[in-house]
Amino acid sequence: MTHPARPQWLRRPDHATPGLAFGADYNPEQWPREVWRDDVRLMREAGVNIVSLGIFSWARLQPGADTWRFDWLDEVMALLHDHGIAVDLATATASPPPWLTAKHPEILPVNARGETIWPGGRQHWRPTSPVFRSYALRLVEALAGRYADHPALAAWHVSNELGCHNVYDYSDDAAHAFRTWLRARYATLDALNHAWGTAFWSQEYGDWAQILPPRLAATHPNPTQQLDFKRFSSEALREHLRAERDILRRYTPDVPVTTNFMIMGGTKGMDYAAWAADVDFVSNDHYLEPGPQGLDELSFSANLTGNIAGGRPWFLMEHATSAVNWQPVNVAKKQGELARDSLTHVAHGADAVCFFQWRQSAAGAEKFHSAMVPHAGSDSDVFRSVTRLGATLRDLAPLAGAHREQAPAAIVFHWESWWAAEADSHPSDLLRYREEALDWYTAFLDLGIRVDVVPLGTPLAGYRLVVAPILHMISEPVAEDLRGYVESGGHLVTTYFSGIVDEHDHVWLGGHPGALRDLLGIRVEEFAPLRRGETVPLDLGLDASLWSEHVQVTSPDVTVLARYAGGELAGRPAVTRRTVGAGSAAYASTCLGPAGLTRVLGTLAEAAGVASELPPSVRGQVELAVRRQDEVRYAFLVNRTDRTVTVAGMAGEPLVGTRGPDGGIAVGPRGVAVLRQS
Ligand code: GAL
Repeated sequence: MTHPARPQWLRRPDHATPGLAFGADYNPEQWPREVWRDDVRLMREAGVNIVSLGIFSWARLQPGADTWRFDWLDEVMALLHDHGIAVDLATATASPPPWLTAKHPEILPVNARGETIWPGGRQHWRPTSPVFRSYALRLVEALAGRYADHPALAAWHVSNELGCHNVYDYSDDAAHAFRTWLRARYATLDALNHAWGTAFWSQEYGDWAQILPPRLAATHPNPTQQLDFKRFSSEALREHLRAERDILRRYTPDVPVTTNFMIMGGTKGMDYAAWAADVDFVSNDHYLEPGPQGLDELSFSANLTGNIAGGRPWFLMEHATSAVNWQPVNVAKKQGELARDSLTHVAHGADAVCFFQWRQSAAGAEKFHSAMVPHAGSDSDVFRSVTRLGATLRDLAPLAGAHREQAPAAIVFHWESWWAAEADSHPSDLLRYREEALDWYTAFLDLGIRVDVVPLGTPLAGYRLVVAPILHMISEPVAEDLRGYVESGGHLVTTYFSGIVDEHDHVWLGGHPGALRDLLGIRVEEFAPLRRGETVPLDLGLDASLWSEHVQVTSPDVTVLARYAGGELAGRPAVTRRTVGAGSAAYASTCLGPAGLTRVLGTLAEAAGVASELPPSVRGQVELAVRRQDEVRYAFLVNRTDRTVTVAGMAGEPLVGTRGPDGGIAVGPRGVAVLRQS
């Protein structure tokens, strides 16, 4: 059997040529043996070359504390290998079996109210439980020992979506580990008392043992305690990841280890920018959000994933062929969306396109979640679309290994600002960090300007324009970096509620936004958030919402780009821009939404000398994303509309799509074209 193409960075048989990976989570334990044969036959037909195996197989692999059953997995691994399908083998620790929770109920998580999270679903384990850890690592050791030399083994998949359901555990194990983490962070109780501002409300600690996770309290728990608990909880899961990974590396130093991140929508608990250093390649799961910005959000997440991976190729571990089962209404994908969604991830650097899951379950909580082989079977539109996608990915094999090409502009993303800005006891509960960042991204897409979504800490020097929306938490070194960026000619844009607190969540005093006040040449004495549904007009003819501020200009280098045109703030500056040598620092004091931001960003981008690379007639209708390998560029044109869009004037040989007689590339409704440009 020949081995189909798959990425070079996976362990692979020598005779497999490099290409893109294509596959799914494969859960053969849900099916009788006869179905397995059909599975591998259909996988070949669809062009599948990799599957993730064993993700929820703990109970089947280890039916009792000292009973192991690997025979079925041996058989599946061999069957897959015989059909040229590689395996991303899971460590199977995601969902502990009933015998384990019955024997050791002390591994079950506890919520902030002190209630136990019982078995019955999945991922019911405490990230800090030493008992859970020892059972999990025993299983990892058993799997690593058994399959280390298996020829099908291409990568290791640690657990599954670490923190999906169990990121916040308030148990006694968590309390104990939290104290250890705090000691390492602060060394002394004095330092902790200062950082947490415990002089307030009589909260001073006299002994480490007095400290608890922020459990249900009479009113708002201490904000820095809450923030540190978020930091700690992300780190606790990372520690689990590293513990499993270290065992795998010991057995198979040549097999890369990954775990699937959840860079999407509201998944907020894990600081993946930090986690990326712990895996051999970055993997992400993504599920489309319903609504007008769904595709933009997909692109935003893929873009951020690619930049967290340092621009290197990454692995799309899960997405859906059609509907999911966990949204209030689970909308089926429309014609073309399956391929468009997949290829948008590839456009942003994915070298693997995988789905949850291979065959749609007949039983269990996810039986109405789509799959590559739906309930209807292979005689179905979904399977035909899957097979067509497999063929398209084969056509794209030459781009395997290509990196993201840096864009002229960047949006800075910062988990800690997300956590801190959306905390309780703030000026407004309505503020949404990620939505503001996404609105800026949509504005870039609407202008047809390429932008990278980068984690805070990414060197900014190569970007002409940098937008840092709601960069709420700014430490002194970060403030210095931003100043340095602007002083060396960079163009910075930031927004309301940025630069308000330092790394301990203490307010920068003297007027907002303390950390950036001088750089922006403004001073804000008071916030004036707006109620739900309330808007305030700006003199640009736009309506702003959510937030407004009393902005005073303090530097003669500031130009006011927009003013409030109604209400208490009428006549006051709303959007400002200060020139600083060849650079600038701009500020939007209110929430403008995608349409308003497109207007404002258009002006700011022009002033920064950043322009669209697309012909004017298609800007906004098509997203351009570029990957590059040495002198070869791969330009992706993603049609954001439901109509055919013809893109003129783009050089290159189409790998996907065709050139019309007039030389234009016609990108069909929800379609994607890919051009190879040398
Ligand atoms: C992911 C998970 C998969 C499956 C999928 C459904 O969160 O890793 O196992 O549940 O969601 O969308």
